[in-house]
Amino acid sequence: HGVARVAMKRARKQGDLQAQLFSDPAVRADPFPLYARIRERGPVVKGSFLAATASHAVAGATLRSDAFGVVSDPEALPPLARWLMTRPNRTIGPVTPPSMLAVDPPDHTRYRRLVSKVFTARAMAAMRGRVGDLADELLDRAERESRADRARGGAPVDLVSRYASLLPVTIIAEILGVPTEMRSTFIAWGGTAAPVLDIGLSYREYRRVDRAIRELNEWMAGHFTRLRRDPGDDLLSQLVRAEHELTETELLAIAGLLLAAGFETTVNLIGNGAALLLKHPDQLADLRADPAGWGNAVEEILRYESPVQNTARRALRDTEVAGVRVRENTFLSVLIGGANRDPEVFDDPDRFDVHRANAREHLAFSSGVHYCLGAALARIEGEEALRRLFERYPNLAAAGTPRRRPTRTLRGYDELPVRLG
Ligand code: HEM
Repeated sequence: HGVARVAMKRARKQGDLQAQLFSDPAVRADPFPLYARIRERGPVVKGSFLAATASHAVAGATLRSDAFGVVSDPEALPPLARWLMTRPNRTIGPVTPPSMLAVDPPDHTRYRRLVSKVFTARAMAAMRGRVGDLADELLDRAERESRADRARGGAPVDLVSRYASLLPVTIIAEILGVPTEMRSTFIAWGGTAAPVLDIGLSYREYRRVDRAIRELNEWMAGHFTRLRRDPGDDLLSQLVRAEHELTETELLAIAGLLLAAGFETTVNLIGNGAALLLKHPDQLADLRADPAGWGNAVEEILRYESPVQNTARRALRDTEVAGVRVRENTFLSVLIGGANRDPEVFDDPDRFDVHRANAREHLAFSSGVHYCLGAALARIEGEEALRRLFERYPNLAAAGTPRRRPTRTLRGYDELPVRLG
């Protein structure tokens, strides 16, 4: 860990792009100018300890190429991550093997096939009604609390903690068959554990995350035992039934990944979307007049403020992507947020436009074999949450300064105060 710090410090002194990318607070707040500089320097830019791409063509080709693997080989990782992955008695979590996010085919193919059997687009579409009802329930509650507060002088509602962060985690808890009385504990574990998806956490942050994942895993192991005795029709019961094909460790990795992936990312889609639409009242008026536009608006929100800003791949052999030669073992940071602002693909990319015709070409859900398994659900959650919010409150207005979360991979808000009106 110390070694990584020293390398980072030295790199920063030398004006290294990746050092800025991962540690500069100004870049965390607004990474888009740096992505543009990286793209201007070339399709693949080498830094001191990894290479990066902000080109849509290279990013897409890399994610789809079988010459690249996920970065799960401990030797290829920075010291802190290496220690987390290799220490004795390590925690089974969403970003280390055997999580499907962290393994290549053929293991990946096996996990993915099992989970996709129950996580079908059809099953997700059937959840739309429930997602909409839940959005209304959460807004009812937020409204009651706001009214109670108004009696004492009136307080704005924080859209993130009262709405955006509760919706996806409640849905994932239902999908995983978590009993109602455990929901609030489960949500708390999710909140503490989900930042594990972020790169560049400090050692102390990792410890906190690690502890939450351990507690979650202990509870989950008991939950598996209960579901084996008394299965429900939830997704997890179906996976537990496929047990001869999955070890307990593999099941834990899947459950943890679904919680983390279904938790942090969609919160940011909803929060980023609400903030963007409040800043663009003319576009919001169009959506209120023509609700059929919500689907495309969600695609544009995903493009413009991608909730997952980057991922990484390692070249398994010497190869070429989109005409660029890449050597074996190159560790390539794929800047999804940068690819989604590439002027080669998106006209005037820094303009937010819910009517953009090709918004859907974004890479916000990645591409290739690891393409987001929850994309259909995330789209439904984003659409229902935003449409219901803005339709229900025609005078919804910002009330105070939104606070961005300090994370690097995940882009979103910690706090978004509004008046429901
Ligand atoms: C994978 C983004 C919501 C489950 C991914 C990846 C991205 C992503 C970028 C691939 C990372 C890579 O290629 O290295 C998002 C965004 C979301 C979202 C932006 C919301 C706006 C969800 C939801 C779920 C989910 C709601 C499930 C409930 C997964 C799973 C994977 C994944 C299981 C791993 C797939 C694999 O490795 O084959 N997501 N995600 N995601 N996502 Fe999502």
